[in-house]
Amino acid sequence: MTRVLAPLIGLFAKATEVEEREVAGLLCPPPSSELGDFAFPCFVLAKRLRKSPAQIAVELAERVSSDDTIVSAVAVGPYVNVRLRRAPFIGTLLEEVRNQGEGFGSSSSGVGKCVVLDFSSPNMAKPFHVGHLSSTIIGGSLSRLFAYQGYRVVRINHLGDWGTPVGQQITAFKRWGNRTELDKHPIAHMVDLYQRFHREKAENPGLEEEAREWFRKLESGDREAREFWEHIRAVSIQELNRAYARLNVEFDAYLGEAFYEGMLQETIEEVQKAGITEVSDGALIVPLDSKGIKTPLILRKSDGSTIYATRDIAAARYRAENYRFNLCLYVVAHDQELHFRQLFATLELMGYDWAERCVHVQFGHVHGMSTRKGGAILLDELLDRATEKVRETVMANQVLFRDVPAAEIDEVCEAVGVGAVIFGTLNHRRTKDVEFSWDNALNFNGETGPYVQYAHARLCSILRKAGDEPRGEVNVNFLTHDAEWALVKELARFPGVVEEACGQYEPSCVARYAVDVARAFTVFYDQCRVLGEEPELSAARLSLVNTTRVVISSALHLLCMKTPERM
Ligand code: ARG
Repeated sequence: MTRVLAPLIGLFAKATEVEEREVAGLLCPPPSSELGDFAFPCFVLAKRLRKSPAQIAVELAERVSSDDTIVSAVAVGPYVNVRLRRAPFIGTLLEEVRNQGEGFGSSSSGVGKCVVLDFSSPNMAKPFHVGHLSSTIIGGSLSRLFAYQGYRVVRINHLGDWGTPVGQQITAFKRWGNRTELDKHPIAHMVDLYQRFHREKAENPGLEEEAREWFRKLESGDREAREFWEHIRAVSIQELNRAYARLNVEFDAYLGEAFYEGMLQETIEEVQKAGITEVSDGALIVPLDSKGIKTPLILRKSDGSTIYATRDIAAARYRAENYRFNLCLYVVAHDQELHFRQLFATLELMGYDWAERCVHVQFGHVHGMSTRKGGAILLDELLDRATEKVRETVMANQVLFRDVPAAEIDEVCEAVGVGAVIFGTLNHRRTKDVEFSWDNALNFNGETGPYVQYAHARLCSILRKAGDEPRGEVNVNFLTHDAEWALVKELARFPGVVEEACGQYEPSCVARYAVDVARAFTVFYDQCRVLGEEPELSAARLSLVNTTRVVISSALHLLCMKTPERM
């Protein structure tokens, strides 16, 4: 928790006998800044005090109005609107950022706790889908957000590297594959082969049987099948890692589905021991009616094979045992809602107390991003396209990237292009279905990644022109302009926004916040000259500029975006 709001929070906590944490969550900006700086809603007190919220507001306003930290407190309906004394508030903010730098906004609330994040998790033998991209981006950002709160974060790629699709892949490669192509573009080649397999199987029903046979061989340790599987797995991971690096995402472990193969027998026995299984048409199932779920979880099919869900039970047990997590987050599209409800319900029925710490962090569809048929994408292709589009926009514009040295243009185009894709995925609540458009995502004046990055570059440019980063204390009494005050209030929200983003598993809180700060900065910079004013005013404004740069840079970092210094 930042000290900036502490006096105000303390004041209301004392006056209402509501806990400080709760007060912090209740204080909000009034509908317009003319009404005041912060509003305190009195609804929560109504029950306890048996009075109407409006009446409480009147009394509360009276009680707090004599305090030093505020200029005025006025009851408006069920709210108390307060106006703060600006100078001490600004002073604390600038000082805090001066002392903490990029750590401003971080906290230690997660120290000693562990969160396991299962994200991206594409299927090795199948196309990478837009959903996998969303998962990669949301999961990447969540991993940084939790680390920022002090958590130990374990980032796991639950690669789909097992099951009949692998058999299909081997079949397709044996029939139509090309080694050189595989070495050069493993994923593109495998996706082509996979799609061809599914086109041709209609005319050639023998293909399916062949694929099943290959998977059986793989399961029983056949050398040829095994070697091929290992090879495509290794080259896929290599290629994925290259794309993940472009997205600024990393994993601590690839623990794919195959990893749990050896644990499945024991897993099934454990479920049986819990006495919750049944045999139905030769399949072993877990009925979940008692948990309000009509469809049972299938543990083992009638042909004796295990499925995705069996491996997820094994994976969850493995994680609980090895990481003793406080939270295990599955960042997976909402299409799999039923799967995760079944999984968590089964874990509960097995009696695991940690089952309630497993969460399906679901998200909606992003339309308009696919580069191939059927929603498939090639990550490199998509990111290349983003970078190219930035280059085109910049070429067509005389102002953009004027400051960027020729040798750095490529790097900046990449940072902004990739940033636009990331931001386009994170700037709305994750459960919403959205339409992605390149024009919107790359609009340097819209609510976009490029807009925020551009604000950051302008901040850097002001600081560069000033010659040196402002150090030491400044006289905040010079900062009296309303645009400065509006910016300061935005900046002070940062620690709360980070907390909210973690609590709701919503990186979008940070994305939207970054736009708000960039906007407040733009207004400030339109109305207030920084350089060339009298020295004390310039120094104070420069300190505010630096504070803004630190906050925007930290916010972009939490979104896994790069922060070019020139644009
Ligand atoms: N590979 C799966 C898919 O593409 C996603 C895996 C998500 N993680 C999990 N533990 N089930 O649909």
